[in-house]
Amino acid sequence: MEEHQPSFIGRHSKEAALDSFAQFVSSGKVHFFQSIGIDFVLGNREGPCLTDLSGEKTLIDCHCNGGVFNLGHRNPEISQTLIQSLQELDIGNHHLISEQRAALATRLAELAPGDLPYTVFGVGGGEAVDLAIKVARGYTKRENILSAKGAYHGHTGLALATGDEKYRAPFGPPTPGFLQVPFNDIQALQENMDNSTAAVILETVPATYGIAVPDNDYLPQVRRLCDEKGALLIVDEIQTGLGRTGKLWGIEHFDVKPDIMVIGKGLSGGIYPMAATCFRAELESVFHQDPFIHISTFGGAEVGCPVAMKVLEMSSDPEFLSHVNEIAKIFRDGFSVLREKHPEILVRLRQLGLMMGIEMVNEYCGPFFSKAAYDAGFLSVYANNDTRVAQFLPPLTIQPSQAEELLMKVDHALEGVKNMLGL
Ligand SMILES: Cc1ncc(COP(=O)(O)O)c(C=O)c1O
Repeated sequence: MEEHQPSFIGRHSKEAALDSFAQFVSSGKVHFFQSIGIDFVLGNREGPCLTDLSGEKTLIDCHCNGGVFNLGHRNPEISQTLIQSLQELDIGNHHLISEQRAALATRLAELAPGDLPYTVFGVGGGEAVDLAIKVARGYTKRENILSAKGAYHGHTGLALATGDEKYRAPFGPPTPGFLQVPFNDIQALQENMDNSTAAVILETVPATYGIAVPDNDYLPQVRRLCDEKGALLIVDEIQTGLGRTGKLWGIEHFDVKPDIMVIGKGLSGGIYPMAATCFRAELESVFHQDPFIHISTFGGAEVGCPVAMKVLEMSSDPEFLSHVNEIAKIFRDGFSVLREKHPEILVRLRQLGLMMGIEMVNEYCGPFFSKAAYDAGFLSVYANNDTRVAQFLPPLTIQPSQAEELLMKVDHALEGVKNMLGL
């Protein structure tokens, strides 16, 4: 007889989960969320929706963990792939040659923007960014890394060093060799590049900086400058990759070919962590002398490789990408109506496909919008490095009717922000 397995979700009451999280994980987070009236504890999750552990509140996920849930929560095709993979595979051994990693790297090479035939796998985005910087420095034998002010590439060692000071300051002196310049300002970049520049690292559309879509000619000019100065271009597609912008890679909108591309988040299918650093063939020479000089025990875990393969198959499907563009148009049109209705608060929708940021009039609006969105029934997290902007990143799989429903909820949330501001 089949044994009945108790559910993992709901073994503890919501109150017990809040208490033990505060006692054993993070008192600060519990205090913060309770103080702003968002005491949501993640319970059931399905498709575009998240339900509170109490069962009393359901939200449409418009944060998606920065793209982890591009394909929705517990996407059946993805889950099925992992279940099948678990019948045969495990983590594997990162020292050994791996059929699974080889197959996934081959597929990435076929799909990559430009000629990026080699891949080193990691567990998370920060780790993949660290490796990108190691490769750039190792190959160019130069030290300096230029990044954008307000950019976010992760909280690990070298990735942290590319970011804003507020994230680094409590943790010791600055790491040498890192410099930030304003994003979308080619002159500032030019003035700070010289023959000590190993690489420029940029998100195609900086997310934490408020979904700042660059001018059409900015990234091509960055490419040109890198070529002139002998520096490498590292493109962080951790949020913009895998269909989010309506193309498989965000960088394709700008017709730019990077030397190194970093991906993560959505590559997991929301179910098994996977990140990757893909680079040009010459750059692999960094590992010729000692192929074991970079190690990641769990990076490219074999059991996760078929999941990432499935993600690539689904995200690169032309029908899927045209669906993303169709939904993006619903939001574009809907927001132009909302802009007429709420001119005193809504500045514009920043948008590249379903990579969207709701720009409002002042820096209080983002945090207020997060609360108003919660009250209206969707999850939206404001952009921490430009708090005028609420990030708006629904799953790419939502249907037109759900997009229309979301627009109504955004309308309510904007009313809510106006009330909070006393407008
Ligand atoms: C653009 C970008 N790069 C890098 C990272 C770091 O990824 P991870 O949190 O997986 O280390 C993030 C995470 O939010 C990100 O948004």
